[in-house]
Amino acid sequence: SVPKFPFPSNEPEMDFGAGTQAAQQLAATLSQREIVDIPAVIGGKRIYSDVVDEVCAPHDHQRVIARIHRPSEAQVGEAIANSLSVARDWANLPFASRATILHRAADIVASRLRIKINAATMLGQSKTIDQAEPDSACELIDFLRFNAYNAQRIYAEQPLSVPTAANRADWRPLEGFVYAVSPFNFTAIGANLTTAPALMGNVVLWKPSEKSALANFIFYEALEEAGLPAGVINFVPGNPEITTRAALSSPHMAGIHFTGSSAVFQSLWRHVGTHIESYRSMPRLVGETGGKDFVLAHPSADVDALSIALIRGAFEYQGQKCSAASRAYIPASLWPRVRAQLQERLSVLTVGDVADPKTFMGAVISKASFDKLDRRLAEAREDSQVTIIAGGKTWSEPGYFVAPTVLEVSNPRHALMQDELFGPVLTIFVYDDNAWTDTLRLIDETSPYALTGSIFCNDRFALHAAEDALANAAGNLYINDKPTGAMIGQQPFGGMRGSGTNDKAGSWMNLMRWTSPRVIKETY
Ligand code: ALA
Repeated sequence: SVPKFPFPSNEPEMDFGAGTQAAQQLAATLSQREIVDIPAVIGGKRIYSDVVDEVCAPHDHQRVIARIHRPSEAQVGEAIANSLSVARDWANLPFASRATILHRAADIVASRLRIKINAATMLGQSKTIDQAEPDSACELIDFLRFNAYNAQRIYAEQPLSVPTAANRADWRPLEGFVYAVSPFNFTAIGANLTTAPALMGNVVLWKPSEKSALANFIFYEALEEAGLPAGVINFVPGNPEITTRAALSSPHMAGIHFTGSSAVFQSLWRHVGTHIESYRSMPRLVGETGGKDFVLAHPSADVDALSIALIRGAFEYQGQKCSAASRAYIPASLWPRVRAQLQERLSVLTVGDVADPKTFMGAVISKASFDKLDRRLAEAREDSQVTIIAGGKTWSEPGYFVAPTVLEVSNPRHALMQDELFGPVLTIFVYDDNAWTDTLRLIDETSPYALTGSIFCNDRFALHAAEDALANAAGNLYINDKPTGAMIGQQPFGGMRGSGTNDKAGSWMNLMRWTSPRVIKETY
């Protein structure tokens, strides 16, 4: 029988305002100079190695915060074998038991680990508390509770039985293991990529990004404390190439649950396709990847709301969200006011240490990311098609800082309007007010990605035309709102085209990918 988990509400954000006890505890945790050793965890055993990678705070890159102990390729192979050895027991455990573990883990994070996981996300991923709390606390907790709620709806779904035959769907997991590859930018995503398949009865090999491994490891310990049996999710940080090689060369690799760049997801897909005969099952490939997300303003748009959405959408978390606003189309009639508002608001935004509550933006994640953005901004300065409206500066001490930057391009097909930069750079094209239909066509044609998009418009006919013309240009479309910050249970999330398989994280659509039902007919 299927338990009745009620429809959850979203976990409310905790108040970290000045003078609160939460703010004091957070400040104390952030100032600890502890260096955490992060082992691999295989079959419940912590595996330390001589080969370690140091993890530094991006906004203070001399400060080491963790050491990742890399497992060897043989140990990753042992992790796979270990998971497979517990797969049958895990699959046969009643759904209620599996869901209860997730609920318990959510409660542990909400009540006891909240400060710790927020601090780890702030230090390792350079998030301010305003960005960490909705991610590593609220969204992470929501993923666990909403997935449990949505899974019960799948399990309750049964075919028709008739007087002479009982029919039933046996919602089995996939046969084999799921390889979960999680990104640096949201701690919550690692929690979802692993626990969604596990909730549906699968065993999982988890390779977190090195940059989020500290926060992800705290969550992993919450799962252990909540009673997740050893081996159901094995944790193998570090060594992306070796881990992926071991995972993809196993005949029992039954699915990939991925969030990261389009290029890496495509390379995984290519490998699986080339070696498809080597797998016992046809692997399920579920990926949420890149974006070059648009904000389109109609001449009827509310300029105040638009400017705030551009700033929040483009620059919160340094633009390092697959959903970030990175290109905008503004009608000429509104541009002088929008430009003035952007310049004025950006002039007072602070960039720096995320522990300082006044900071709006921390650092970009790594030297590689900094170098790429630095080069693109240097090229922009030399480009006659580009005007710098705001920002444009970079500095690499004590961290990898890039000022919030607004560029205007005279050519709407400029690379800056199509390449994903994954940083705090917003590129704007100003269009003729009479060219609404042409602009819609242009956006669709120049959207190799199709993740999120926003339309600011107060004219119903124009809006309807835009929704229709851009039907395949965004998996998540926002009207009169920024394109970031999807809420679990409210906006199931995922994109089309080069942005992934659109399996809508946080919803039953994603969970469906982790079950391979057997249908049984019994006559009598
Ligand atoms: N789900 C994240 C957002 O909507 C990426 O911003």
